[in-house]
Amino acid sequence: MILVTGGAGFIGSNFVLEWLAQSEETVINLDVLTYAGNRENLRSLDNNRRHIFVQESINNSSVVADLLIQYCPRAVINFAAESHVDRSIHSPEDFIQTNVVGTFHLLEAVRAYWADLQGQVKQEFRFLHVSTDEVYGSLQKDASAFTETHRYAPNSPYSASKAASDHLVRSYHHTYGLPVLTTNCSNNYGPYHFPEKLIPLMIVNALAGKPLPIYGDGQQIRDWLYVKDHCSAIRRVLEAGRVGEVYNIGGWNEKPNIDIVHTICSILDESRPRSDGQSYREQIITVADRPGHDRRYAIDASKIERELGWKPAETFDTGIRKTVNWYLENQKWVANVQSGAYRSWVEKNYSERST
Ligand code: NAD
Ligand code: TYD
Repeated sequence: MILVTGGAGFIGSNFVLEWLAQSEETVINLDVLTYAGNRENLRSLDNNRRHIFVQESINNSSVVADLLIQYCPRAVINFAAESHVDRSIHSPEDFIQTNVVGTFHLLEAVRAYWADLQGQVKQEFRFLHVSTDEVYGSLQKDASAFTETHRYAPNSPYSASKAASDHLVRSYHHTYGLPVLTTNCSNNYGPYHFPEKLIPLMIVNALAGKPLPIYGDGQQIRDWLYVKDHCSAIRRVLEAGRVGEVYNIGGWNEKPNIDIVHTICSILDESRPRSDGQSYREQIITVADRPGHDRRYAIDASKIERELGWKPAETFDTGIRKTVNWYLENQKWVANVQSGAYRSWVEKNYSERST
């Protein structure tokens, strides 16, 4: 079996659902259920005996240690994190506690477990750390995309905390020999994406007749990857990645934010036209920029393609259509996640941004 942390969040839940659909192995899913963790994402697994959900923090090393001894997983995949840049600007401490201190506690528990393993089981054990391209900082317009040897230059409390966790993971390999793998992926989108991030926020706000808030000039570039492609890349790295190595994962799909929002509006204009016959573009507004906003991220994903034969299956066009359809078909899920806590975040983030 495998142990997944943060498996009730956006990427983690997609990973767990796909893993159980594609393999015979059991998943122990350790998630403390912050605002971003949602058991609804895993509802289809309610009667699945191969899914063991444990509501606990990665900071609790004694619980993690007990789980490792009880279940003897062959791998630990660490998705657990605070993941929203804007929240890291408002409340950086949570990011240090989870992403830095939490990863440290998790590594300590895993190191003790691995040290006691024997023979082939020990040799085959892997700790896979899921990280982000944001650790590399912001790229100039014409600069080459991030390779695995690009220098770290994180600019937000989120990316700095992820960078710190990457360094800890690296050090546990070099110092203790822990068999680690690290992946640095670009921006994901797809089903179960919490609607405070750009793509789901725009879909949900458009349908609710609310403003579509573009930070600054909307020309910031992100490299978008459909979440199921990220999951397949992680499976491939786990299966065949070289121990101690880093693999960048991306969709070869750089787009300015404003283009993303225009695409979403066009798809909705086609599939769910507004009752007044106007385009959803009418709802776009410009709001104050994010402090320290990174201008451009872009991933060079040639290493994972060359060494492990992985390539994304979706283009942006196919992936974004699937995503918009998913939100159209899962409005109950959207309504359920728009709790009081969600509304107070939206109020906090957008009330300070003048139009
Ligand atoms: P998310 O915020 O949707 O989910 C994070 C999950 O971790 C939630 O279920 C939350 O409850 C859980 N969690 C938080 N603190 C925890 C703790 N102390 N102990 C146990 N569980 C805890 O995030 P996501 O978008 O699914 O991202 C997953 C991972 O992938 C993160 O490490 C993130 O840095 C990385 N990543 C995300 C993206 C992206 O575009 N979303 C891109 C690259 C990398
Ligand atoms: P986000 O989804 O928060 O991901 P990240 O900051 O990790 O890249 O934001 C993606 C881009 O969209 C980023 O450049 C900020 C921008 N953005 C907006 O313009 N308006 C919004 O309301 C949000 C949430 C993001």
